[in-house]
Amino acid sequence: MASSSLRHCVVLLAASLLLCVVSVAFASDSVLGPITTNGRNYTKVCDPARFASLGLDMAGFRYCDASLPYAERVRDLVGRLTLEEKVANLGDQAKGAEQRVGLPRYMWWGEALHGVSDTNPGGTRFGDVVPGATSFPLVLNSAAAFNETLWRAIGGATSTEIRAMYNLGHAELTYWSPNINVVRDPRWGRASETPGEDPFLVGRFAVSFVRAMQDIDDGANAGAGAADPFARRLKVSSCCKHYAAYDVDKWFGADRLSFDANVQERDMVETFERPFEMCVRDGDASCVMCSYNRINGVPACANGRLLTGTVRRDWQLHGYIVSDCDSVRVMVRDAKWLGYDGVQATAAAMKAGLDLDCGMFWEGAKDFFTAYGLQAVRQGKLKEAEVDEALGHLYLTLMRLGFFDGSPEFQSLGASDVCTEEHKEMAAEAARQGMVLLKNDHDRLPLDANKVNSLALVGLLQHINATDVMLGDYRGKPCRVVTPYEAIRKVVSGTSMQACDKGACGTTALGAAIAAKTVDATIVITGLNMSVEREGNDREDLLLPWDQTQWINAVAEASRDPITLVIISAGGVDISFAQNNPKIGAILWAGYPGEEGGTGIADVLFGKYNPGGRLPLTWYKNEYIGKLPMTSMALRPVADKGYPGRTYKFYSGPDVLYPFGHGLSYTNFTYDSYTTGASVTVKIGTAWEDSCKNLTYKPGTTASTAPCPAINVAGHGCQEEVSFTLKVSNTGGIGGSHVVPVYTAPPAEVDDAPLKQLVAFRRMFVPAGDAVEVPFTLSVCKAFAIVEGTAYTVVPAGVSRVLVGDESLSFSFPVKIDLVA
Ligand SMILES: *[C@@H]1O[C@H](CO)[C@@H](O)[C@H](O)[C@H]1NC(C)=O
Ligand SMILES: *[C@@H]1O[C@H](CO)[C@@H](O)[C@H](O)[C@H]1NC(C)=O
Ligand SMILES: *[C@@H]1O[C@H](CO)[C@@H](O)[C@H](O)[C@H]1NC(C)=O
Ligand SMILES: *[C@@H]1O[C@H](CO)[C@@H](O)[C@H](O)[C@H]1NC(C)=O
Ligand SMILES: *[C@@H]1O[C@H](CO)[C@@H](O)[C@H](O)[C@H]1NC(C)=O
Ligand SMILES: *[C@@H]1O[C@H](CO)[C@@H](O)[C@H](O)[C@H]1NC(C)=O
Repeated sequence: MASSSLRHCVVLLAASLLLCVVSVAFASDSVLGPITTNGRNYTKVCDPARFASLGLDMAGFRYCDASLPYAERVRDLVGRLTLEEKVANLGDQAKGAEQRVGLPRYMWWGEALHGVSDTNPGGTRFGDVVPGATSFPLVLNSAAAFNETLWRAIGGATSTEIRAMYNLGHAELTYWSPNINVVRDPRWGRASETPGEDPFLVGRFAVSFVRAMQDIDDGANAGAGAADPFARRLKVSSCCKHYAAYDVDKWFGADRLSFDANVQERDMVETFERPFEMCVRDGDASCVMCSYNRINGVPACANGRLLTGTVRRDWQLHGYIVSDCDSVRVMVRDAKWLGYDGVQATAAAMKAGLDLDCGMFWEGAKDFFTAYGLQAVRQGKLKEAEVDEALGHLYLTLMRLGFFDGSPEFQSLGASDVCTEEHKEMAAEAARQGMVLLKNDHDRLPLDANKVNSLALVGLLQHINATDVMLGDYRGKPCRVVTPYEAIRKVVSGTSMQACDKGACGTTALGAAIAAKTVDATIVITGLNMSVEREGNDREDLLLPWDQTQWINAVAEASRDPITLVIISAGGVDISFAQNNPKIGAILWAGYPGEEGGTGIADVLFGKYNPGGRLPLTWYKNEYIGKLPMTSMALRPVADKGYPGRTYKFYSGPDVLYPFGHGLSYTNFTYDSYTTGASVTVKIGTAWEDSCKNLTYKPGTTASTAPCPAINVAGHGCQEEVSFTLKVSNTGGIGGSHVVPVYTAPPAEVDDAPLKQLVAFRRMFVPAGDAVEVPFTLSVCKAFAIVEGTAYTVVPAGVSRVLVGDESLSFSFPVKIDLVA
């Protein structure tokens, strides 16, 4: 840790942040006493017997009157609390007011990034009753499947396991997942946790996951039926994090705790906020978490425009806003923002719209709100009404979760609903669907299990006998782990392991090279681990670490036949050496595939499953990162500094190794379309001034002469659509899933626009020799909109294009958009 104030910290990475265990904090922690959910002896707060055991008569507490609207009950509850009690409930370890008011303690902090996790202090516990929970592949893997049905299945299984653990007193109901920050830079250490580099893809993942976590009826039902969204009941509360423009963890001198992200408003709207807007508006998430960093000087968690203006008012959040853990303290200690002390930072954050302070170890209290809230009110820096409002958001969320009244539909869930065969199979299926075949020269894969009698499995032991690495960040305790070695050995009993540990790879490589000369197949499993990419640690280069490249080349050279490479990693790895080496016949990206990852890998290698995953982020060559610092937040090229653009939307230069969306199959597909083009007329009406915006055009091109160059989408909810049907044929001899990505590109003359942008996608199964027709309908005001220079979202007049598919299989057609009075 570079920061001197963190010098005494023991770093326990894997929670929402660094857990700094300072000896002083231990002392105060024991004074506070541990708060755990274990041993909770009630299933709902409003139980007359529970009140009686506290010496209280529940009939006297209107907040327990289930016949009243939630809002009224919450008002009653908050109104009963003294100011001291109120403040004691503004931290993640909320103290309740049990003896006086019947309100129990509650631990807000839960994590469920890819299955129930216990990387929180006490809210979730594994042990005798529930030894583990299903550990799905990391989010980047699931994103690679491009399958919304899969994402909902994962969210649904996870929330069911949470409900089961809640019933047993081993978990709470509020979870700070998903992580939906866009992977702007390939060096980011947290790529594994996110759905990748495209804001639309990230947003769709968020909506699917959140709906499945939260919705009590079918997770696919967008409306979910409640007339009053503040009264819509929830299965589990899900949280979109980290808002906003957070994607630098620790890159040389830049540390997330003190980093001030310099962000153009256009990038804010187009990239950084977009997934959050979708998560709140379309997913109706009940929580948003603000991030550590500052944005243009202002801490995200004290930014009233972002929290109250955008999230709560413009997007209509029905829920609460929580800080990333210690964010308020970070304003004072790390950012030294405005020279504020704890009282001032607490007041500023609460006034900005922050409802709950997740705090780490701290002298006297866990968090700043609890420590300084009372002084802030007494000194007149914060109104008690502002505290009431925050508590209102919190208790309404708990009302909706059935914390007070119980949730009959989940009552019967118990230990036998966690780690079920069905959930483990779902984890294996997710692993299979997320595998991405990067290279397959001369159909090297799949291997024929009937012909491969001897097989050499080469690589670091941690990747081959991967009991740990596949579980990645924010893990819980898995139900079990199926390693690649175990799964491959099941298929080929003559599998020999040529594994090395750090340091001893030279001699092992020699043995592996000898083996490779004689065996029927050689598979090298290689990649990264959490020492290279993880929370709090960005990458310094994009190369394979340690001496892996060297001995992979040696093994390939010695091998009789071309070898197969399996890559375990989240972020892209510059494996140009392997792409260009004919002795490396096939390359499979396996990501961090979760507890059943070995099965997923073996099923794809031996053709039990035909891979259909696509890269959810660009794989760059290592040269790319030498051309721009990680801390430059701009997505577009920065001409005066010579920085190239970022992501497939703004970069298509020579440093791309595999583009966004790349992924091969064991079969071949072809497209037919019945569309040659479309033309749409959008009527502006009379509000010409409000609805029309100017655009900038590329030098030398003729600007549109239309009186209205572009319509402002916010001022004009246009209903026009463009529909087309695509026929996908499988011309090979084996069935397979195929992902159709649909992009749009604005008129060629528009300056500074994305090269193309993803607006729809569909994964479908096409049997061998068969064809499937897929209809697509694109909303003109969504799919053809771009964000122009002054950050308005507009649809340009002129000829846009629809681009379907990728570099190897594609078709496109023009869409002429006329804007008329
Ligand atoms: C629940 O537990 C609390 C504290 O452990 C105890 O005081 C109370 O009597 C128990 N209530 C019931 C209904 O068992
Ligand atoms: C693989 O890991 C398991 C669990 O740690 C261990 O029991 C086993 O011995 C390992 N196998 C080899 C071949 O190292
Ligand atoms: C990652 O691998 C390196 C090289 O073998 C090893 O030194 C390190 O301990 C590993 N880190 C983790 C978190 O497994
Ligand atoms: C796919 O098509 C290519 C070119 O026509 C052919 O070489 C290849 O064998 C086909 N692959 C499959 C699996 O059908
Ligand atoms: C748009 O451009 C036209 C022509 O250059 C100009 O007259 C008009 O004032 C501009 N409108 C805005 C809102 O900038
Ligand atoms: C999408 O995921 C679901 C759930 O795993 C699965 O049943 C379905 O087959 C997948 N679709 C395709 C085309 O792979």
